[in-house]
Amino acid sequence: MSTDQQQQNLTGKQVVVIGGTSGIGLATVIAAAAQGAKVWACGRSAEHLDKARAVVGDRVELVQLDTHDDDGLRALFEKVGQIDHLVSAATGGTRTLKPFIEQTEEQFQAAFGKLWGYAKVARIGASYVAKDGSITFVSGAPARRFKPNMSALSCVGGAVENMVRCLAVELSPVRVNVVSPGIIDTALFDWMGNEKNERVAAMTQGQLVKRIGRPEEVASALVYLMNNPYATGTTVDVDGGQLLS
Ligand SMILES: NC(=O)c1ccc[n+]([C@@H]2O[C@H](COP(=O)([O-])OP(=O)(O)OC[C@H]3O[C@@H](n4cnc5c(N)ncnc54)[C@H](OP(=O)(O)O)[C@@H]3O)[C@@H](O)[C@H]2O)c1
Repeated sequence: MSTDQQQQNLTGKQVVVIGGTSGIGLATVIAAAAQGAKVWACGRSAEHLDKARAVVGDRVELVQLDTHDDDGLRALFEKVGQIDHLVSAATGGTRTLKPFIEQTEEQFQAAFGKLWGYAKVARIGASYVAKDGSITFVSGAPARRFKPNMSALSCVGGAVENMVRCLAVELSPVRVNVVSPGIIDTALFDWMGNEKNERVAAMTQGQLVKRIGRPEEVASALVYLMNNPYATGTTVDVDGGQLLS
């Protein structure tokens, strides 16, 4: 096999990334396209779609879609046809960072929008995924690292990781996996405004790798899981060692 072929592992493959217009999802879109895949990137807002278009140009099909829209998902999958690798990195819900007791039931439930979005992608998308293909979702370090004010993230992340293992068993031979990022430099922290650098430095100083992660570092794990035919039902942590700190 030539060096070119080794670098183009996804040549001829169809890859769909829901939540592929920003952050980790967009980095995954770029990485998969660089390996030769035909990529479909989806998100809700025109703002993110336009920003993504400016980066990927016409190499990637950009589709406006809410992951909670059953008909929209069905129409997308029908248009794509057979999917080799189906990814969702969509946030899909609204997280509240507060002590559990101080969260309203509505706030706690709203965080589970992420799980329901992933569940829809799996339920509607599974029959379109090639038997030698894969489905990959994104959880987060709080799934197994418990800190104050993070109960919503922890519960949703844990549920996503368990759903992935259930799906890996039921959908085999399709492989189903999850990537668990730590603190990654995406739009998720934009609400911190001018304080972002200082606050992120404080959040990451106790980690083994004492800096914020880059979306590309997480995307490489997502692409690894697409490419490795022996990986299923597993979680790949890309978190700067947060679980050990
Ligand atoms: N960044 C971190 O530190 C971190 C840590 C742990 C876990 N994660 C997880 O990593 C995943 C990616 O997050 P990110 O940091 O890359 O965030 P991001 O930069 O905000 O990207 C989120 C993407 O999801 C899309 N999206 C959100 N809700 C959607 C919906 N209902 N339907 C379709 N698309 C939707 C967004 O586009 P629109 O808003 O335009 O729809 C965007 O393309 C999320 O599951 C997040 O929980 C991130």
